[in-house]
Amino acid sequence: RIVYLNGDYMPEEEAKVSIFDRGFVMGDAVYEVTSVLDGKILEFEGHMARLERSLSELQMVCPLTREDWLAIHHELVTRNELVDGMIYLQVSRGNAGDRDFHFPPAGTPPTVVLYTQSKPGLADDPKAKVGIKVISIPDLRWHRRDIKTVQLLYPSMAKMAAEAAGKHDAWFVEDGFVTEGSSNNVYIVKGSKIITRQLSHDILHGITRASLLKYAAEAQMEIEERPFTIAEAQAADEAFFTSASAFVMPVVEVDGAAVGTGKPGPVATRLREIYLEESL
Ligand code: PDD
Repeated sequence: RIVYLNGDYMPEEEAKVSIFDRGFVMGDAVYEVTSVLDGKILEFEGHMARLERSLSELQMVCPLTREDWLAIHHELVTRNELVDGMIYLQVSRGNAGDRDFHFPPAGTPPTVVLYTQSKPGLADDPKAKVGIKVISIPDLRWHRRDIKTVQLLYPSMAKMAAEAAGKHDAWFVEDGFVTEGSSNNVYIVKGSKIITRQLSHDILHGITRASLLKYAAEAQMEIEERPFTIAEAQAADEAFFTSASAFVMPVVEVDGAAVGTGKPGPVATRLREIYLEESL
């Protein structure tokens, strides 16, 4: 695999980063995951807008222009002959020398890494046909979940807890309400309404979420942006999640209770079709 590191393309074995890098020592880095379907890069502008925002919230300078980022994305797709998969992008605050909580001086070069991950048949994930099962878990993350940092230890623990329980994923709960999934935004369908939590610092502002809500509105579907509980999800007609890597994924069980019929419902199924049609 050919990867990108700080201005150069190289085989992955040659891509080396300092042990002093603040991404490594302090989790001081932000990232984006962008899907590629049939060689096409999805939602590029959305991901770059969010990257710029994450960096600026953490007082980091965006090191490249959108044109530069796009050129790198295209170059990696071409060099790796990527058909279906993902492009991972990470910007860390760079090599700070000796360990220090304070940010390094302005002008310290960030560490910029991009690489591809091939996922043949990404859009035909068999799980979308049967739906996935989730557990709930307290949301113990920090309170700036709108910034896409690489501090993913708790989401990793949540996924391990789900796996240990024989399920696929975990939904975070705070003050009695669902915030989001361990790596996705979540929705329930009740009657004619699609219900999803409103944007705030409590959740990541999903790029897939923004497009999905736009497509749903265009299809005359009713949307209510408000928090919901686990009990409401269990009593809902349908549930689903969205993310760049899974698009729209039906959720058929929450904490052991079947949602609706226990099978992917018509709204989630239709929205997945619409999302994939619009993306390709
Ligand atoms: N996860 N919420 C969280 C906590 C996430 O980590 C993600 C994305 C989302 C969905 O955002 P988007 O639609 O922009 O992908 C919501 C990515 C895919 C990941 O970490 O792999």
